[in-house]
Amino acid sequence: MNPKQEIENQKQFIQKVKEINQGKNKTYAIFTMGCQLNENDSEKMSGMLEEMGYDKVEDLKEADVVVFNTCCVRENAEDKLFGKLGELKKIKEEKGTIIAIGGCMMQEKHITDKIKESYPFVDLLFGTHTLHKIPQDLYEVIVQKQKQEDIMDIDGKVYEGLPIKRESELKASVTIMNGCNNFCSYCIVPYVRGRERSRHPKDIIQEVEALAKKGYKEITLLGQNVNSYLREEREKHIPFETYQNVNSFATLLRAINKIDGIERIRFVSPHPKDFTEDVIEAIRECDKVCKLIHLPLQAGSTSVLKQMNRKYTKEQYLELVEKMKATIPHLTLSTDIIVGFPGETEEDFEETLDVVKKVGYEQVYMFIYSRRVGTPGDKMEHQIPEEIKHERFNRLKELVERNIYETNETYIGTKQRILVEGKSKTNAQMLTGRTDSNKVVVLEGNDEWIGQMLTVEITSQHMWYLKGEKVEK
Ligand code: 5AD
Ligand code: SF4
Repeated sequence: MNPKQEIENQKQFIQKVKEINQGKNKTYAIFTMGCQLNENDSEKMSGMLEEMGYDKVEDLKEADVVVFNTCCVRENAEDKLFGKLGELKKIKEEKGTIIAIGGCMMQEKHITDKIKESYPFVDLLFGTHTLHKIPQDLYEVIVQKQKQEDIMDIDGKVYEGLPIKRESELKASVTIMNGCNNFCSYCIVPYVRGRERSRHPKDIIQEVEALAKKGYKEITLLGQNVNSYLREEREKHIPFETYQNVNSFATLLRAINKIDGIERIRFVSPHPKDFTEDVIEAIRECDKVCKLIHLPLQAGSTSVLKQMNRKYTKEQYLELVEKMKATIPHLTLSTDIIVGFPGETEEDFEETLDVVKKVGYEQVYMFIYSRRVGTPGDKMEHQIPEEIKHERFNRLKELVERNIYETNETYIGTKQRILVEGKSKTNAQMLTGRTDSNKVVVLEGNDEWIGQMLTVEITSQHMWYLKGEKVEK
């Protein structure tokens, strides 16, 4: 079956499950781990489940169907999954909960083996290439009363037209490509998500146009390596259907920038080695593209970067940052950093601190290196002892927090454009919004402002948020 036929086939299973569920008030809950791509996948899972007649509940223990959407980038997610499964065992015995586990972890054989052995009550295992088959798999579980394992190793195709139930009515994520070809030596993603596959420009643009019509204001374009969008097609001369002259990430940004109603465009994650000039120009020229760029550093030492297979040096990274700062007015940066990669010496770690000081990031996502079975990093000598990893992590955290405090101070007295996103979760009298640089701003105001772009003056800073007041432009 080609992808289009496959989706039609799944829609028939959606109808079949819906008929079975009619009038039974069935519910589902999803537990999502990991990155924004996984969150977007969970929205697709929700879309399918809702069309099958399930209503969403937050508490896993209440639901008739529980879906875990797993991540395997770091070890702690595994402990979390097994803990939750342990909690559900008794509940399942009492009320017959259907338990499904999907996502990246399911592409790892040692994990699925462990689940089958230690948690045999799980009904359905599905992988990253079989998400679209949930309706059929669930149907089999319900009707045949048989456990299903639906995991494929081969690279998935691109499936369009799945229903989707989005978390927000204002901000939407749109996956533009799946998979990764980079094989950074610490990272499991290329093994569990397969090779890069770009969606057709037309499908992406039409999805964003439809979102704009529904009132969405902010779009985040997602991919493991967004700036290699359509690269395979260009380099290997693979024909693809062009649309509005889009043939690269830069031209995609330009096309989306033209869509009426959309106010902001963000994207994660680009790879520094692929940050070409045309993308920098597009960011500068497209007024809706936020000037906060997430530029994963991973490590500041050239020798660690080489071991990580990142394909840039410390100097090349810093040059890129300088070029971007010089070209794009009001540019801000965020990054990902791993501490304690095998062989990282004290001097190497200090190079990381040096880059953090030089660049002055708005936000740093910090990770302790986690050995992943099957990656080159796991087999390297000179693994770093846990206490040293933690000690370095804490030193980095201290520097990052000091930087954030100092950066926040520079916001006081400035005017910022914010998108008002809703009521504050901690104080219903207040509203929250975000700046272009993704800082949370809390302000007094009325509910009519929700969904609007406003200018505010920043009056004070509180580490994790700023306070502001609405002013005229
Ligand atoms: N250990 C720790 N952090 C990791 N990341 C990816 N793999 C690992 C690992 N094995 C981090 C990287 C990446 C982010 C999504 O997760 O910093 O950019
Ligand atoms: Fe992992 Fe590197 Fe690919 Fe990012 S670019 S998903 S860190 S292999």
